Amino acid sequence: MLADRRFSVDATRPGYPARGPASRARRTGRGSFITMDAPEHTRLRRMLISEFTVRRVEALRPAIERTAAELLDELAAGPQPADLVRRYALPLPSIVISALLGVPYEDHAFFEDRARAMLDDSAGGEVDRAATAELARYLGTLLHRRDIRRTGDLLGRLNAEQVETGALSRSDAVATAILLLITGHETTADQIALSTAFLPDNPGHAEPFRHPDGPPATAVDELLRLLTITHTGRRRVATADVRHGDVTIRAGDGVLAAADIANRDPDHFPDPDAVDLGRSPNHHLAFGHGEHLCLGHHLARLELRIALTALLRRLPRLRLAVPTGELPFRHAHPSYGIDRLPVAWD
Ligand code: HEM
Repeated sequence: MLADRRFSVDATRPGYPARGPASRARRTGRGSFITMDAPEHTRLRRMLISEFTVRRVEALRPAIERTAAELLDELAAGPQPADLVRRYALPLPSIVISALLGVPYEDHAFFEDRARAMLDDSAGGEVDRAATAELARYLGTLLHRRDIRRTGDLLGRLNAEQVETGALSRSDAVATAILLLITGHETTADQIALSTAFLPDNPGHAEPFRHPDGPPATAVDELLRLLTITHTGRRRVATADVRHGDVTIRAGDGVLAAADIANRDPDHFPDPDAVDLGRSPNHHLAFGHGEHLCLGHHLARLELRIALTALLRRLPRLRLAVPTGELPFRHAHPSYGIDRLPVAWD
């Protein structure tokens, strides 16, 4: 379904399966390319592909490693227990995406808060609309000021190469900036926090991350498969009748691709509930599939590998400071996560 153009991602179409009333209320305007179909989606996404290639992302490695080390120095010097989300899992991807885009990290409390409000399924439409408007105003001003001769960052390039040449409207540029800023920190932060909650309880699986050579290249993907934080499924609406086995999906039917279930399908993943950090092949759906495959998947993989390796090497005796059952897991949100992760170490 995710690779089939008879299924649309356009959230304004009747039948599109909203996550709830708040999410339905917000699906009115044009939005960003994550909710657009080809050819508009293809045109807008193409403007960014070169920014997220393996080579471009690999060039960020030293800066990500340095940031992780600095955050861990501060964490280790501070009191215990510490909240790993606020001190490490969230700041790391937030600093990385801010630097990549050219958004001042000093403003992180503002944009993290608005991003959270925009994604909160339990919040009302008003909260979401206000947060979206504030973020749009903030990023619109930033884009307007940006000058490629002074900045070598993504928003500067987007402005100079696409907006000023007339290829990209100012409102689409702002929507793209919002999309990148939010997707660039929220999910990665949740995946770092959940993986951290999971690993200390499973010493055999934490060990490879402490090894001098690092874990196998496949390790992070196994955590992505098992945790599948984008747990509310990929949403689409059929634009034509589609026959699938014995079932006919009618035009206008909303469809959910339940990636979390697919990722434990025993026909594709032998012994699917087992943690196998060396699992290969591992064609999971944690980053989606098809034309909307996560644009930042190389960056997310690199950040996760660095984040978990640096953390478990720096604090090899890291442990949860509360029982797993008492962790404040976050459900009403398209990315499954933990709001606070109290940790301690020897
Ligand atoms: C799309 C997951 C990190 C940018 C997606 C989609 C998923 C996903 C499942 C597909 C949406 C759909 O099919 O409807 C994740 C996970 C991440 C992560 C699990 C971290 C663990 C990132 C990062 C960025 C990013 C670091 C960097 C900017 C995007 C963008 C899209 C997207 C721009 C829209 C792609 C399109 O519609 O063409 N992500 N993501 N993501 N992701 Fe990520």
